[in-house]
Amino acid sequence: MDFTPDELIEKFSYDSKFLDAWLHLALECGIFEIANVSKRTLKTAPHVYTLLIDRKNMFYVGDTIGFFYYLAPLQNYVFDFFKTGYVDVSSEIPEEVIIDGHRSSARMGELVERLFSSNYKDFSKFLKKQGSILAVGCGYGFNIEKWAIKYKRAQFVGIDIDSKAVTFAKYLMKQHNWDERIEVYDIPINEYAKKTDDKFDLILLNQVLHEMNHDEDYRRGVFKDLYSLLKEDGILLVGETMIPDIFDPKKERQLFDIMHKFFEAGFARFYDKKSFEDFVGSTPFTKAEFIKKGGEYFWAVKK
Ligand SMILES: C[S@@+](CC[C@H](N)C(=O)[O-])C[C@H]1O[C@@H](n2cnc3c(N)ncnc32)[C@H](O)[C@@H]1O
Repeated sequence: MDFTPDELIEKFSYDSKFLDAWLHLALECGIFEIANVSKRTLKTAPHVYTLLIDRKNMFYVGDTIGFFYYLAPLQNYVFDFFKTGYVDVSSEIPEEVIIDGHRSSARMGELVERLFSSNYKDFSKFLKKQGSILAVGCGYGFNIEKWAIKYKRAQFVGIDIDSKAVTFAKYLMKQHNWDERIEVYDIPINEYAKKTDDKFDLILLNQVLHEMNHDEDYRRGVFKDLYSLLKEDGILLVGETMIPDIFDPKKERQLFDIMHKFFEAGFARFYDKKSFEDFVGSTPFTKAEFIKKGGEYFWAVKK
């Protein structure tokens, strides 16, 4: 869409003193392009739409970058995390920020799915025809949505303990007319494991483990329940940021890891590769394979 600087001033109440410098910078950076020199009109560069706006595009990074911007004004709050080690995320962080965080997690889930389907071709083919998938900590349902689009014939169950998120996830599934094949429940894993006899081919634990109660015994209990919910030849897919030492210089991209690092004060507890393997070794599961390509990775945990 074309726009003139005057339109920007009027619509967004920008100060004309700074606008020229700002627009110049945006042109230099390739965010805007000149649309019409004689009329002093600009337009957004096409790649900006691809990168920041078009959620369906495979190069889309808008949610993750947007989440960083959301966090910027909350920096005092983040410093408080570090100082006090305490944070009550639910009451302090606006819901729109939490929703964007979930969208960002789902983006990780989408990348993990790509890696999963290229590493487990037969399993992925099977799931395209049939099968069942349980998403534990499904949140607002954005990750289920991505997987359900890819695995159109699989049955899904999503569970979470955040009732607001579950209400939204149910609404999202309804929008897709997926009532027949996707159920979402507001229920803790131990209660769900008790109440169902269903066993799943695939269990997704995407960006959830670090948020769970930090107590190792609690987490072991969760993995026991996951074990009982998984079929004998099923896979528990753990999509989780592995944070060994964020300050150790790496050549790989670390955007998501860095974003997560501050969560460690008070709110989240992550593993590195070794401690995750040790953790899985203390549960009924017998195998944890680290699947990695470039900056993407996940754990395939098996019985
Ligand atoms: C970052 S979100 C990820 C959501 C979703 N898995 C995705 O990838 O988009 C983490 C979710 O884990 C949920 N969660 C945290 N602890 C949980 C628990 N003990 N049982 C179930 N869900 C839990 C939170 O309520 C939140 O919705």
